[in-house]
Amino acid sequence: MLAIIGGTGLTQLANLEITHRQVMRTPYGEPSGAITFGRLRQHEVMFLARHGYGHTIPPHEVNYRANLWALHEQGVTRIVSVASVGGIRADLSPGVIVVPDQIIDYTYGRAVTYFDGRDRPVTHIDFTQPYNPKLRQQILDAAQCAGEACRDGGVYAATQGPRLETAAEVNRLERDGADMVGMTGMPEASLAKELGLSYAAIAVVVNHAAGRGSSRDGVHLETISAVTQPAMARVRNILECVVGSDGD
Ligand code: HPA
Repeated sequence: MLAIIGGTGLTQLANLEITHRQVMRTPYGEPSGAITFGRLRQHEVMFLARHGYGHTIPPHEVNYRANLWALHEQGVTRIVSVASVGGIRADLSPGVIVVPDQIIDYTYGRAVTYFDGRDRPVTHIDFTQPYNPKLRQQILDAAQCAGEACRDGGVYAATQGPRLETAAEVNRLERDGADMVGMTGMPEASLAKELGLSYAAIAVVVNHAAGRGSSRDGVHLETISAVTQPAMARVRNILECVVGSDGD
């Protein structure tokens, strides 16, 4: 079963025929909200709003462990994460949709693993490929089927937030090899891997990263929602095609 975790600008799926919602508790606390169950183009899916349905939970306070645990417990095997990012690479300007293939993690102080505590075995997951290649390809194929342009690959830098970056920090991210920057990609991706879930992301560029392009003198937050709304409508078109793709 496929689940979609929606980020900023995607707190609900307009085209989802909702069947029911379920509030869950996990050993790690409560997820960001009730899990929404429904059908998208006749296919059963689950949906969870990462920041809560009223967008009240900032990136560093999202209970990533509870979110993924709850979805896993409900029988989810594939997760498509939708997240907004700032574009660092010159061609990643506002409105562009990307399926990243790599991550650099700059977050700190977040609960990053299910394998902690003295009663758990020391466990190191392989994270060479943070995103599931098959699911990435299914998203790219879905974008093509939906007629929506989508970039294949890019390095996602996960920053701590909630503040945006300084221009010098963005320069450093670029020197490190990052193409885009967001605040929620980690530890979501590695926790999904710890649970054995297929996980991939759709990143939506909603602004030039700090110090770049139209954000040269500052990131103009007031212009972001004008970009986000039409871009998320395109993401919904892609998601409608992803749900029809084969499971694992
Ligand atoms: N930086 C970090 N996270 C973001 C940005 C950004 O510029 N835009 C959207 N999410």
